Amino acid sequence: MSGPRHLRLGVNIDHVATIRNARGGDHPCPIRAAHVAAAAGADGITAHLREDRRHMTDADIARLVAEVALPLNLEMAATPEMLAIALANRPHAACIVPERRAERTTEGGLDVAGQEASLRPFVARLGEAGIRVSLFIAPEARQVEAAARLGVPVIELHTGPYAHAAEPGVELARLEEAARLAAAAGLEVHAGHGLSYANVGPVAAIPELAELNIGHFLIGEAVFCGLAEAVSGMRARMDAARRSANARP
Ligand code: PXP
Repeated sequence: MSGPRHLRLGVNIDHVATIRNARGGDHPCPIRAAHVAAAAGADGITAHLREDRRHMTDADIARLVAEVALPLNLEMAATPEMLAIALANRPHAACIVPERRAERTTEGGLDVAGQEASLRPFVARLGEAGIRVSLFIAPEARQVEAAARLGVPVIELHTGPYAHAAEPGVELARLEEAARLAAAAGLEVHAGHGLSYANVGPVAAIPELAELNIGHFLIGEAVFCGLAEAVSGMRARMDAARRSANARP
């Protein structure tokens, strides 16, 4: 399936590396997971190289770029170390995320509005290297506007609060509004964090979205049904949500 209405699926394979690292060997191999995801309908691979290397390693990133045909979206903190690694590996895209050492996963969005000046040269260096820069932000107008001022081509909206809300309607409306605003400003809009079979539909139906990045649920589900089935199951749910949204008058 292709065309402007196609919603891309980026499969985040960090937690394949989490399981591998639990025993310190090389199984399960995240590169193999990337190949399986590609064959099952993923449009891209996402990997977060964290400062503490708790899941992905530098060698994993180099291999993902060299050996996997799908575009790599490298999630990274805005630090000199990560900038150097991105420039050395030249992934297709880099998504800048906030990072705190003690957090279990990425907790909030990047405060682009508060860090505009320090992010500007960072974003410029990545862009000059031909890396498509994305900023992972909360669905707030001031963050979208700051991202647009920085001239990045892409933002990724943080769907964690939506995914974890007891009453997700308000959070969904915030995502819809931010996606509209960003698309009107000429930004390509992605979304991710905490998405699962149960909650992906309403997000996939947001017409301005071009890509979803999904990891933890898919790797967890793969324990029960295999990674290929988990990825193709997500792909099917995303496509069904898009089809029914498009069919609405
Ligand atoms: N997008 C970004 C920017 C993230 O940091 C993460 C988590 O690494 C994801 C998407 C995927 O989130 P999850 O693993 O909850 O699907």
